[in-house]
Amino acid sequence: MARTRVLTGITTSGTPHLGNYVGAIRPSVAASRRADVESFYFLADYHALIKVSEPARVQRSTLEIAAAWLACGLDPEAVWFYRQSDIPEIPELTWFLSCVAGKGVLNRAHAYKAAVDRNAAEGEDPDAGVTAGLFMYPVLMAADILLFDAQQVPVGRDQVQHIEMARDFGQRFNHLYGGGAAPFVLPEAAIEEQVATLPGLDGRKMSKSYDNTIPLFAPREQLRKLIFSIVTDSRAPGEPKDTQGSALFELYQAFASAEETAAMRRAFADGIAWSDAKQALFERIDAELAPMREKYESLIAAPEKIEMVLRDGAARLRERYAIPRLRALRVAVGLRDLGEGGPAEPGGKRKPAQAALPVFKQYREADGRFHFKLVEGERVLLQSAGFDSPRDAGARIAALKREGFACADALLALGEGVDAAAVREALDALRAAEEAKA
Ligand code: TRP
Repeated sequence: MARTRVLTGITTSGTPHLGNYVGAIRPSVAASRRADVESFYFLADYHALIKVSEPARVQRSTLEIAAAWLACGLDPEAVWFYRQSDIPEIPELTWFLSCVAGKGVLNRAHAYKAAVDRNAAEGEDPDAGVTAGLFMYPVLMAADILLFDAQQVPVGRDQVQHIEMARDFGQRFNHLYGGGAAPFVLPEAAIEEQVATLPGLDGRKMSKSYDNTIPLFAPREQLRKLIFSIVTDSRAPGEPKDTQGSALFELYQAFASAEETAAMRRAFADGIAWSDAKQALFERIDAELAPMREKYESLIAAPEKIEMVLRDGAARLRERYAIPRLRALRVAVGLRDLGEGGPAEPGGKRKPAQAALPVFKQYREADGRFHFKLVEGERVLLQSAGFDSPRDAGARIAALKREGFACADALLALGEGVDAAAVREALDALRAAEEAKA
């Protein structure tokens, strides 16, 4: 069963707040439990550097966001959970994509254009205060997505343009180097149309830029204080209150069941005192968060454990996807072993190496089962166990050619004295030779 690959990045530039929880964390954790989805969640700390130049804040935010997602139930055994800066293949791919990305396309990116427009309005040089990092932001994001061939990227409207750019860069790369490596999957934006946005303390959208947020895991007493500071109108107890446009009511609704919400609607009509409504809101939110807060606090107190979870996630992910992918991409663009494949011909076509190209050999054993091995000259690189049919053996060979080699398993053993890297190199050479023929 092929699972849909869904990828989500979270920039590590702040402290998670209730709006992040309702709009992103809660729905994403629920979605991550689906069996038909292969989920990728990562802490976009390279992206954070574009906005934040306080090292301690980047570090603290990374810790808080990782702890928050884990406390809210993300299972690092069931999804890929990692930190962007632990995957060196991402910046390497960023460079490859930079070399195909149109500068004119990047000129049109909203964040960059907004900065330029602001400068123009102020009579400044158009690029005053604009870093190359801000300009290149969409390329880095494209690398995040394309490296893992993500099919769907859940994003808000503001990020849709970035997904379109990722498709554009991926397509250009496929076009230029098509055949040199498996083509990039072009991602789709999964637009969260009715993503819950929460009002903040002042009634505007809850956002760090308005400084009106309620931290997701504020200690209980601070949570109560903040909730009691939510702006309300001046209606006295006993006067009917409007649910329409009430930040308090909207917050309540985001945490309450349909019945609880209906009851609160009646209480508003019946003139509930604001202080009673705030108390009810506090209790409702606290009931949902308290168990997770406890987990969060114990995670934050043991940062070395989170560090291990992240490193482990990145190491497995690199081994499984990033390293073999980059190896093939390097070959595709021409960053190649000089001794391999003979002299390059003008026009870019390579002569396949004459000497000892690795080959797959399929054969049947006396026990009637179907085996194969990958050999290079005399050397056996891989040895399979017995398959029921030649088709099954062939399918495994096709998968190896297509996806490269991750690690040995029950059906596939490394040859004596052979390491996984040697197998990967052989498969790359085989692929390059087959492509040169095609
Ligand atoms: N740019 C995203 C944001 O600001 C974060 C992000 C970085 C991201 N890389 C990504 C999101 C890749 C989705 C996919 O919210």
